[in-house]
Amino acid sequence: MAADEKNAEEIFKEFKEQSITQFFRKNSQMLGYSGKVRSLTTVIHEYVANSLDACEEAGVFPDISVEVKEISESRHHVTVTDNGPGIPQKHIGKALASILSGTKFHRYLQQRGQQGIGAGGCTLFSAITTGKPIHARSGTGKGSSFECDIAIDIKTNKPLITNMKTVLEDFRGTSVSGEFGDTKYERSDHGVFEYIKRTALSNPHASIRLVEPDGKETVFPRSVNEMPKRPKQTKPHPLGISARDLLDFAHIADSKNVSSFLMESFSRVSAAKIDELKAVADGVNFDKRPRELTWPDAEKVVEAFGKIKWIAPETDSLSVIGAKQMETAMLNIINPQFISVTERKPKIFKGGIPFVVEAGIAYGGDAGKKTEEGTKGTIMRFANKVPLLFDGSVCAITEAVNQIQWKRYGIRDFGDEPISVFVNISSVYIPYNGIGKQAVSQEAEIIEELKLGIMECARKLQIHINKQRSMHVRESRYKTIMRYIGQLSADLSEITGEEPVKIEESLKKIVENKYDMGNDTADEEESDADTGLLEESD
Ligand SMILES: Nc1ncnc2c1ncn2[C@@H]1O[C@H](COP(=O)(O)OP(=O)(O)O)[C@@H](O)[C@H]1O
Ligand SMILES: [Mg+2]
Repeated sequence: MAADEKNAEEIFKEFKEQSITQFFRKNSQMLGYSGKVRSLTTVIHEYVANSLDACEEAGVFPDISVEVKEISESRHHVTVTDNGPGIPQKHIGKALASILSGTKFHRYLQQRGQQGIGAGGCTLFSAITTGKPIHARSGTGKGSSFECDIAIDIKTNKPLITNMKTVLEDFRGTSVSGEFGDTKYERSDHGVFEYIKRTALSNPHASIRLVEPDGKETVFPRSVNEMPKRPKQTKPHPLGISARDLLDFAHIADSKNVSSFLMESFSRVSAAKIDELKAVADGVNFDKRPRELTWPDAEKVVEAFGKIKWIAPETDSLSVIGAKQMETAMLNIINPQFISVTERKPKIFKGGIPFVVEAGIAYGGDAGKKTEEGTKGTIMRFANKVPLLFDGSVCAITEAVNQIQWKRYGIRDFGDEPISVFVNISSVYIPYNGIGKQAVSQEAEIIEELKLGIMECARKLQIHINKQRSMHVRESRYKTIMRYIGQLSADLSEITGEEPVKIEESLKKIVENKYDMGNDTADEEESDADTGLLEESD
């Protein structure tokens, strides 16, 4: 052995564990902290999504205020304030400065947050880039508001609370503020302004105010006075479950045995289904405690799930924006010339996971994206009403839009027209492409349904475009002929001896009737006939 070689004993003196926080400290890009613009948008997204979730859960119309101040070109101060239920003092530390803790991840419920990494991730990012704690203020509106500084202990993933103060003033809601380095404020497609605008579009029941670093204040007012339907907490369907999920559920279950665990934890599992499962899941003991379920058992049960027939899952667990609400929001915010929206019926993917697609198309007016080279088509992607601003190229929604043959719908070049396509997909389980949750994975069943939704709107767009185009043609023919009527009437008058004014009047009537000016019913018939030809056949 050479002098500088070590044996295992010596090497393993270095053996240590690291906390989840230490892991994310080195891998913060996994939480969306990569690139200065994206990092700032991620912070705002995490706080705003939490505010919306909290308000919806408490049944209050969200009033959210977002303020961004520039400390230096790459350092920003952010404050997000809501009128939600507040966070109790004893939970505030864990809620905002601990990773993988929260009130949402143990539920099978459609919400924006689920993993308990959002708020803690922001606190960690602030610590990494500025060394400072975040500041929080919270109250229930009953005289018990408080404020404090919260840091995250990276070694232990535990919150460190300092400067706790009771505040006498009545305050209901939560206000979180912090300083974040390695950030950049930019009014681009990926920036905070666009994020907030799109959040207002997909949450028309919320009022959102944004103050930008230059002091400019924009308010997106509430455009519908109706709360979205609360999603129902449901049980997962057997066909949407992996062996890993099954074990996770089993290991926290209180049920007496595996049979009762399956019946209590999943939808559509009856005593009769248990008998069927027993017949196909060879060697699994259904009488043992769920905690004793092993990985091979779980694999066998999941395989058995796939072999027997199930009633489809319930679909009332989904919370959508609503076609009418979407239309109102798009009219208010995009102010287009034409709009069409659809809320599709729930569908199922992987046999057991329900999802709903909502789509809308805005055309003309302020639709599309204004650039120096003219107006470009844009895709606005949403998952569970959260705008997805990054990783568009790998997203199922982008893929669905690209697969559509837009020419058939009167759009010659999607990239070059004043068109905005709006798509929201809702599900308890959105299959994201990666932990940053910015793209929906390209499952064939999902892409198909997305296309159907978008095409439904595109058909109505085509009717509108046809109408506009034929109106244009009629108008220019009408004008051309009208130009000759004066001369023609004079000539005819010479031949017939009739007064030129009278001839002109009757000629005008004939032309007006022919081109039907100011009355476009004739075209509606034309366009309606066209719609029969629009089935996609690729
Ligand atoms: N604005 C808020 N109002 C009320 N509760 C909040 C708010 N922000 C965060 N919380 C609580 O903190 C928990 C952790 O938030 P977060 O780390 O973003 O995880 P997640 O949103 O995935 O649950 C939430 O589950 C919620 O209970
Ligand atoms: Mg969250």
